[in-house]
Amino acid sequence: MALKVCLAGATGWAGSELARAIAATSDLELVAAVSRKQAGRVLGEVLGAPQLKAPVYATAAQALATACDVFVEYTKPDSAKANILCALAGGAHVVVGTSGLTESDFAQIDVVARQHQRGVLACGNFALTVVLLQKFAQAAARLIPQWEIIDYAHDDKIDAPSGTARELAFRLSQVREPVPTVALDKTVGPVEARGASVNGTQVHSIRLPGYVIGAEVIFGMPDQRLTIRHDAGSSARPYADGALLAIRKVGTLLGVHRGLDSVLEF
Ligand SMILES: NC(=O)c1ccc[n+]([C@@H]2O[C@H](COP(=O)([O-])OP(=O)(O)OC[C@H]3O[C@@H](n4cnc5c(N)ncnc54)[C@H](OP(=O)(O)O)[C@@H]3O)[C@@H](O)[C@H]2O)c1
Repeated sequence: MALKVCLAGATGWAGSELARAIAATSDLELVAAVSRKQAGRVLGEVLGAPQLKAPVYATAAQALATACDVFVEYTKPDSAKANILCALAGGAHVVVGTSGLTESDFAQIDVVARQHQRGVLACGNFALTVVLLQKFAQAAARLIPQWEIIDYAHDDKIDAPSGTARELAFRLSQVREPVPTVALDKTVGPVEARGASVNGTQVHSIRLPGYVIGAEVIFGMPDQRLTIRHDAGSSARPYADGALLAIRKVGTLLGVHRGLDSVLEF
């Protein structure tokens, strides 16, 4: 039987690509969608994809009145947490694509997910090349003691640092904390010039027209440097592919798991 999916943000850049990708599968069925502006319509009419029969609701709570196995959160940082908690309370497993949630948000979500015996798979970036960036960076951090992250995105991205950069900083913190040669509070000049401290890593967010999404981690040690960088193109295809895998696997998890590698074999 097909897994029933409710998709919040189904009319957005990332969500609409995922909706079309779900429609092309035989093991997943989109049963409800969330978008404030398109509420009351059928998703297929909105996206020009007649095979998508799911009704569109204005809120996650309304959409979740239709039973689903997996709720996908792909809206905006200000609505994401409430939607996730609502889905868990309704008994769904949750895949989170939306960026901007903090460590403390994830800690609270983890408690609620475990109370309801449900899994949450949160991926700041579903692209396979990001999963590899994370893995290679974790390996490098075991051997190289200092690093910083640069996060590149389009000028109208409202959250900073990106979910990709936050997740990378979190993962590197699980290996160890980098120790800068000059402590931040000894900086001469504005300390902001050294970036934001995220889980002990300095992160520099660039927001300019001409970028889509990219992330770079630079490792430095005396007389040598290693740069590992991911760059995305302009389509949402890489995120849809990763999200499909997350939807299929999230039911095997309990509590919050971060990153697609939680369900990938390496
Ligand atoms: N994890 C990944 O791989 C990945 C990839 C791409 C993007 N993202 C993240 O995913 C999120 C969405 O990105 P996007 O580029 O697709 O954004 P977008 O094009 O602006 O789409 C946002 C979607 O969410 C809906 N929405 C926004 N606020 C809402 C609310 N309060 N209640 C209900 N629906 C709401 C919008 O519809 P209405 O305006 O009609 O409500 C729309 O369908 C961002 O946080 C982005 O950083 C993650």
